[in-house]
Amino acid sequence: MTKGAGNFMRECLLLALRGAGRVSPNPMVGALLVKGRKVVSWGWHHEFGGTHAEVDCLRRAHGGARGATLYVNLEPCSHHGKTPPCTEALIEAGIRHVVIAMRDPNPLVSGCGVKRLRGAGIEVVEGILKDEARFLNRFFCTHILSARPYVHVKVAESLDGRITGGNSRWITSLPSRRLVHRWRAMHDAVLVGAGTVLADRPSLTVRLVRGRDPHVVVLDGELRLGAEECRFAGRSRRRIILCTSSEAVRRHGARARALARAGVELLAFPSRRGVLDLDLVLAELYNTGIGSILVEGGAGVNARLSEAGLIDEFSSFIAPAIHGRGLGAFESVESRSPAPGGSRNREIASGLHRKPAFLSREGRNPVSFRSPASASGKNKAVAMRTITVYNSGGDVLIRAFREKYRFTDLQLGS
Ligand SMILES: NC(=O)c1ccc[n+]([C@@H]2O[C@H](COP(=O)([O-])OP(=O)(O)OC[C@H]3O[C@@H](n4cnc5c(N)ncnc54)[C@H](OP(=O)(O)O)[C@@H]3O)[C@@H](O)[C@H]2O)c1
Repeated sequence: MTKGAGNFMRECLLLALRGAGRVSPNPMVGALLVKGRKVVSWGWHHEFGGTHAEVDCLRRAHGGARGATLYVNLEPCSHHGKTPPCTEALIEAGIRHVVIAMRDPNPLVSGCGVKRLRGAGIEVVEGILKDEARFLNRFFCTHILSARPYVHVKVAESLDGRITGGNSRWITSLPSRRLVHRWRAMHDAVLVGAGTVLADRPSLTVRLVRGRDPHVVVLDGELRLGAEECRFAGRSRRRIILCTSSEAVRRHGARARALARAGVELLAFPSRRGVLDLDLVLAELYNTGIGSILVEGGAGVNARLSEAGLIDEFSSFIAPAIHGRGLGAFESVESRSPAPGGSRNREIASGLHRKPAFLSREGRNPVSFRSPASASGKNKAVAMRTITVYNSGGDVLIRAFREKYRFTDLQLGS
């Protein structure tokens, strides 16, 4: 096989992807062993707690790794975790060169693997397809640096920017729904608001592709939902987590007990008039093992996450339809209450206030982004802040990374 370093690394990224939805909260890692220009072995991290990609690759080489070059998308570990250090296995196997895409983002161990390999006389090359590798492991990078799950908000909108108000149950088509089902299988959990549960009773399962059903997180500050509404279809081992306020639990004790009896995990938080601090909610979800969240609405939840600057990735599917009425993707619950005579509310009621989110030239960007550095005072974020606009068939129309473009450019529709 005659390929350059970039091509070998691309193969590693594809191998790594095989672990999507299985290795969380660990990173996805793929490895390739090359002798001359020939691939002699390959491996990947199959499941959480399982063998690391480098060791999987060495095993498949059956002792033929001496003098070879190892390509791997993440710096090999040099510490004892759930498995022994990969650096020692590589040194023992007689690997001559190691090519890595990115260092481990964890500041406690970053660079240690490279140092250990170089110390043992192995030549190490870094940074091949670094951006792609960081994007692949954006869930991992975010929670390592910010101690909260990665948050990906997905909406389906009409051309006039409405997520509701159409005539059919689904705004988009089968190919885009299939893509969303693949995302469900890749994220640890799907999050929805109480409003969406009451309006749609969504199942939030993975049906159109193969994959495991994500856990379900519901935001319901007032504890409006009962055990019946929180019965989500799906296969076993699916957690249903309801986040509410401590006051609501006190007020609706019988409902809370019925939910607990039905197997719903109730997380109660202090609140300001039923509104939870989403930083606290995400931190607690992370503590219970959730490293990535796909947010599937609705507008109220999106608005709160946006206000809190907690959206890492935003995906919008734009359907070729004009609804003329309905909710905007980031329309807060408060902004909807009709106030007689209030022009703003009359506009909202008539839908005149809203231009399609990505074409609006005025006001603030509807999606606000805050780096985890300012949120937690920790390290600079490695995760990419990403916006993608799809057509209803699931084809990408625009994709922008914060590192490369200013989001304001997008507001001009460029
Ligand atoms: N096209 C799409 O992509 C799409 C996707 C999903 C949903 N939808 C549509 O969107 C509509 C629902 O949207 P919606 O805005 O009315 O409801 P929603 O966003 O699903 O839920 C709003 C509720 O979530 C809870 N919540 C949100 N943030 C909270 C926080 N920080 N603390 C505590 N509770 C919080 C509150 O519940 P409490 O009132 O109990 O406090 C709030 O009333 C439905 O018609 C649905 O069909 C469209």
